[in-house]
Amino acid sequence: MNGIWAILVAAGRGERLAADRPKAFVAFNGKPLLAESLSRLDRSDLVTNLVVVAPPGWEEPAILCAEDESASKVVACVTGGDTRVDSVRAGVAEVPSGAAVIMVHDAARPLVTDEVIARVLGAIDGDVDGAVPGLAIPDTIKRAPTGIVEQTVSRDSLFAVQTPQAFRAEIFRRALAEVSDAATDCAGIAEAVGARVRVVAGEPRLAKITTAADLALVEELARQ
Ligand code: C5P
Repeated sequence: MNGIWAILVAAGRGERLAADRPKAFVAFNGKPLLAESLSRLDRSDLVTNLVVVAPPGWEEPAILCAEDESASKVVACVTGGDTRVDSVRAGVAEVPSGAAVIMVHDAARPLVTDEVIARVLGAIDGDVDGAVPGLAIPDTIKRAPTGIVEQTVSRDSLFAVQTPQAFRAEIFRRALAEVSDAATDCAGIAEAVGARVRVVAGEPRLAKITTAADLALVEELARQ
């Protein structure tokens, strides 16, 4: 598949981390967190080009980070928006019309691998428009909107989904133009316009960093 454009969204404030800087720039094993996913995506033979979406005022440090990592596939570094969907839109605006696939990845999930990228991209075929990595849910799930259990939900067909998430560029652009800003992942955006999205095997190492405890845990995973 030609023209795989990766959008690395790094514009979140990361308030739950309570750091003195946006989450993508906190230290992760001695470098900005952004550096880890940026260099991994840049080194992947499956990725053609990269767009980085930085927090307002952090565009320059993001460019310097790409230079430090010799990330030669980075073609643009743009300013993100108030919501994740806005940030994704800003990144996608840099993708040329000839691109085949748009793959969005969270900088908050530093340990992205070539294997998971290959699974996600490989699933886009025939009538499948997009793919996401997902993990089975080990815990029992209850629906309790008021705190009192109303239902125990069968977990058999439930997945906790991660990024990278990839979609045929055409349908993803259409979805972004139509969808509201409330979607919490890109698959949700694509599903809203009827895209068929496949779940492929995710990886526990792709855990998202939200709190300081997550940061310490994923730093440890990176060293193993
Ligand atoms: O906030 P959360 O960790 O769920 O965000 C997931 C990813 O989306 C992060 O990499 C974050 O930087 C990015 N994001 C963004 N723009 C926002 C909010 C989140 O690029 N406005």
